[in-house]
Amino acid sequence: MQKKIAILSGDGIGPEVIEQSLKAVKVIEQLFNLRFTYTPALVGATAIEQVGNPYPDQTHDICMGSDAVLFGAIGDPKYDNDPKAKIRPEQGLLAMRKKLELFANIRPVSAFKSLVHKSPLKTELIEGVDFIVLRELTGGIYFGEPRGRSENGLTAFDTCTYTRAEVERIGKLAFEYARKRAKKLTAVDKANVLATSRLWRETMQDLHKEYPDVELEFMFVDNAAMQLVTYPKKFDVIVTENMFGDILTDEASVITGSLGLLPSASIGVHTSVFEPIHGSYPQAAGKNIANPVGTILSAALMFEYALNLPQAGALIRAACENSIEKGIVTADISAGKVYSTSEVGDWIAEEVRNIKK
Ligand code: IPM
Ligand code: MN
Repeated sequence: MQKKIAILSGDGIGPEVIEQSLKAVKVIEQLFNLRFTYTPALVGATAIEQVGNPYPDQTHDICMGSDAVLFGAIGDPKYDNDPKAKIRPEQGLLAMRKKLELFANIRPVSAFKSLVHKSPLKTELIEGVDFIVLRELTGGIYFGEPRGRSENGLTAFDTCTYTRAEVERIGKLAFEYARKRAKKLTAVDKANVLATSRLWRETMQDLHKEYPDVELEFMFVDNAAMQLVTYPKKFDVIVTENMFGDILTDEASVITGSLGLLPSASIGVHTSVFEPIHGSYPQAAGKNIANPVGTILSAALMFEYALNLPQAGALIRAACENSIEKGIVTADISAGKVYSTSEVGDWIAEEVRNIKK
């Protein structure tokens, strides 16, 4: 099987965590007799510096021509501390999501057995937690127009927009996932305040008629934020709009013990993108200390969602679980000896090989 993978390492710790996930991907390539081509492309602050555009056309063409995109991270403090900067690295990520029409971002959240003690939450609350969040990724306040400043600069505005069609396509996907899992779907909104949320609720209710076997519950986002950390086990599939999903999944990462552990898959109309949910963690860049597991698990999702090789995804996931079990982990989750980013990456790649034997 020949497959083309675009490699968008991006900024900060992006390149070093991507390097670790590629170690595991290359072992899979060998073990399964596959032939992958890896095409690097610029994105983020790095792309601004080199070509003046955070998502250059050439990068888009490479993504469009690939079977999957592995993405590292984006962001640079230089821009965070300069709210006046006109071109920002994050625009590259948003442009990519929009142009590839990646309308669904899937973020699985589960507690690793050996890490439950690492979470600030009580063990009995999080043991056995296993849910997925479907975050809408190409609409809402991230993209709505108009946005900007009044002429005198004293007022700023953003617009939250959703069309029924946008809600329908992610809503359907959510019902499909719920159907394959515990048949329980939670739609998170703020329908007591927002018009867009009322459109979401109405659309989800209508869709529900096609999925009567799935239990649908609605929850306001403030309540959901509270319930996620008080009764996380009650969730199975959560579907929500762009910004609520962004915030709730960072919150949900405390269940796993580290933001560095959560992978994601963004799927839509064109090539799918696989990336950890964490950011570019500039303080750690180049120090070989960042946790690569979220990115390695994102490669596992790539095999499952884009390359039709669920066995390969399962192998990578098992290798990651073993590394955590055995304590071959970076400082953020270590209870003893601390391993470097590249040591963890080497160990997991080797473990993939050992498990396969
Ligand atoms: C994420 C990130 C991005 C987002 C940022 C970097 C624009 O936080 O993927 O969750 O807000 O979507
Ligand atoms: Mn985020």
